[in-house]
Amino acid sequence: MGEYDSIEKFEPRFEKVKPPEEGERIKIVDGRLVIPDKPIVAYIEGDGIGPEIVTAARKVIDAAVEKAYGGKRKIVWWELYAGHKAMKIYGELLPQDTLNGIRYALVALKGPLETPVGGGYRSLNVAIRQALDLYANIRPVYYFGQPAPHCYAEHDNFVIFRENTEDLYAGIEWPADSPEAKKLREFLKKEFGIVLREDAGIGIKPISKFATQRLMRKALRWAIENGNKIVTIMHKGNIMKYTEGAFRQWAYEVAVTEFRDYVITEDELYTKYEGKLPEGKILVNDRIADNMLQQIITRPWDYEVIVAPNVNGDYISDEANALVGGIGMAAGMNSGDFISVAEPVHGTAPKYAGKDLANPTAEILSGTLLLKHVLGWKEAADLIHNAIKRAIKEKKVTQDLARHMPGVKPLRTSEYTEVLINYIKEEK
Ligand code: NAI
Repeated sequence: MGEYDSIEKFEPRFEKVKPPEEGERIKIVDGRLVIPDKPIVAYIEGDGIGPEIVTAARKVIDAAVEKAYGGKRKIVWWELYAGHKAMKIYGELLPQDTLNGIRYALVALKGPLETPVGGGYRSLNVAIRQALDLYANIRPVYYFGQPAPHCYAEHDNFVIFRENTEDLYAGIEWPADSPEAKKLREFLKKEFGIVLREDAGIGIKPISKFATQRLMRKALRWAIENGNKIVTIMHKGNIMKYTEGAFRQWAYEVAVTEFRDYVITEDELYTKYEGKLPEGKILVNDRIADNMLQQIITRPWDYEVIVAPNVNGDYISDEANALVGGIGMAAGMNSGDFISVAEPVHGTAPKYAGKDLANPTAEILSGTLLLKHVLGWKEAADLIHNAIKRAIKEKKVTQDLARHMPGVKPLRTSEYTEVLINYIKEEK
């Protein structure tokens, strides 16, 4: 990390931003976050529809916190800059101030950022995740009664823990005609007798014990804290034995060594417990990836927390969100040991930018992930979930959902936001 030894001791210098004086910094004490009543929470508006949906999310979150704690607690928002807005202020897309600001605040709500298509341009989203080592991409799937293509949608209640730093997405790859690919092909032939086609591009799939086990730890802690009963390791270990197969093995290892009192494995379920999960225990099982992709459709009630390497995790989280109606509802959070950056799964939706038409629910739900699972302000998160459920039930929705509800007049982003705030105020 350069200028400091550890995140606990991090005292940054800022060039153009300053933490708001009204708020207090979230601290790390004995390896845990300590949340003051007025924590500083960073936010990045992002590009495209970002400013509209982040504004909506902040308003809804503020209303819920006010309602839940009557002024005793309050989020003190701190704006940091990335994307086009950063370019105007700093002349660069991802300034050091922003990364340092997130390290300082530890908690951030982020809007989507544009990744222009074209060679050599790295995704800012990926750059943030890598710079802050946000290794777990946590994607819950919520069904609130919205129009959904899945006949079992009411059972779709999963959370996916996707590894965020390794696997084929680590970016270790070379085009077929590059000198690097040529050298690798020659090396493989000379050292191992492996002959690849002369026109083969090459990608490398690293999966480590370290990265697998810290992800599994996070997933198991989540399951314990949220009362989940099943944690499933998703892998393709029958084919890719030393990457995906090892992922399975290392994940089980964490479960039965570090969480022994909390878990039983599927083997133990049948050999020791006659197929009945004992009260208070979590079942840890595993499923081969292709089966898993089918099982969440055919037997969604059998799955709760799903832990997956990067590529599998990408596929299954998109599939799972499609089952419940898609992108306007899909929330996410990228977490490291201490830092969490919540952001919707969707992008900048350029065609809706600045038109007050986008659905802010995914951004709002990303904010509730911070509220509930990082700040521990469950009551406020519940108020928001209830308001969203009620809005869907009463058909007060933005156009992306309204078009699947015959005869329903769509609300603008700002109108929908006001509806949610009123519902929150009306909750008992
Ligand atoms: P996108 O997610 O922006 O849009 C896909 C489709 O969903 C479009 O039809 C869009 O209009 C619609 N959509 C997305 N969010 C919506 C919302 N909240 N309400 C209503 N409709 C919504 O994906 P696309 O078009 O592939 O990417 C656009 C830009 O966003 C690109 O520059 C891409 O790199 C970036 N992106 C950024 C992400 C991030 O910041 N984490 C994630 C995905 C894409």
